[in-house]
Amino acid sequence: MSNQPGCHFSVALTSLLCCTTNQASLSVSPSSSQLFEGQFVSLSCEEDDSSAGRTLRRNTTRETRTECGGKWGKSTGSMCNLSHIVPMDSGVYWCQSREGATSNSINITVTGGSVILQSPVLPVMEGDDVTLHCKTKTSNLPADFYKDGSLIRTEPAGHMTIHNVSMSDEGVYKCHSSSHGESPPSWITVTAPPPVSSPLQFVFRLVCYLVVFCPYFISTLLMVSLYRHRSTGNDPPVSMVMTPLFQAEQGLDDDCDDVIVSVTTEHHF
Ligand SMILES: *[C@@H]1O[C@H](CO)[C@@H](O)[C@H](O)[C@H]1NC(C)=O
Ligand SMILES: *[C@@H]1O[C@H](CO)[C@@H](O)[C@H](O)[C@H]1NC(C)=O
Ligand SMILES: *[C@@H]1O[C@H](CO)[C@@H](O)[C@H](O)[C@H]1NC(C)=O
Repeated sequence: MSNQPGCHFSVALTSLLCCTTNQASLSVSPSSSQLFEGQFVSLSCEEDDSSAGRTLRRNTTRETRTECGGKWGKSTGSMCNLSHIVPMDSGVYWCQSREGATSNSINITVTGGSVILQSPVLPVMEGDDVTLHCKTKTSNLPADFYKDGSLIRTEPAGHMTIHNVSMSDEGVYKCHSSSHGESPPSWITVTAPPPVSSPLQFVFRLVCYLVVFCPYFISTLLMVSLYRHRSTGNDPPVSMVMTPLFQAEQGLDDDCDDVIVSVTTEHHF
C-alpha cells in the first residue's frame, strides 16, 4: 500500500526519539516491596529489542552485584525465580546488559516477622492514587501508618490511600499493629509523569501527514491538471479523483494510531 513508507518512517523516528528510555525494565511478582519469608518470587527483565545476555543482579548486605542462577535464584531466559525467600534475600535488584547498561532497580525487603506493609515496588506517578496495605499472611490488619517516623493515620480497615500523590509524599513508610507488631520500613518514590505522549503524538501526526498526505495531494493536483489539459471545456470527474485521496487519509489515520498507541504504552522506569 502506498501509505506504508510514511509510517515506516515515523516508526523509525519513534525508536530514535525513544532510545533514551528504550531499555530493559525490571518487574517483580507478587508486586510488593515487602514479602514474607517462604514466599515464591519471580523477577523478570522485560526486554526492549534484541538484547540477549541480560543478567539479573542484586546487592544484599552480604553480596555485591551477584548474578541470578549462581548462588541464588533459578534463571530461565530473562526470568529469575526465588522459590523460598529468606530475610537475607532483602536488597536491591536490577537487570544489566553485557555492556553494563542497567534497568530501574527494585528494593525488596523480606521479613521473618508477621506484618508487612504492601507498597508499590515501582515509583508512583505524581497525581496518581496509591494504596498501602498493612497485612499478615492472610488478611489486612487494623494499623497505624507512619511516614518518616511520624504517625500519619490510623486505619481500622488496614489500608490507607493517598490521593493525588505529590513529591511531598515521598518517604519511608511503615505500619504498626497493636496485635501483631510492626512492618519493616519501605521507601515510596514519586516521579513526574513522562512528558512523552502529547507533544510526540502531535509530531508523529504531523510527520505522517507531511510524508504521506503531501505526495497524494500533489499527485491529485497533477491528475486534476492533466484532466484539465486533456479535456478542455469538459469539467473533470472530480469525484473519481477525490476518492483515492479520501481513502489514503483514512488508511493513514489507522496506521498512525497504531504507532501512537505503541508509543504511549512504552513507559519504562
Ligand atoms: C551495588 O553495590 C555496589 C557496591 O557497593 C554499588 O556501587 C552499586 O551502586 C550498587 N547497586 C545498586 C543498584 O544499588
Ligand atoms: C519461574 O516461574 C514462572 C512462573 O512464575 C514459570 O513459568 C517458570 O517456568 C519458572 N522458571 C523456573 C526456572 O523455575
Ligand atoms: C532503595 O532503598 C534505599 C534505602 O535503603 C533508598 O535510598 C532508595 O531510594 C531505594 N530505591 C528505590 C528504587 O526505591
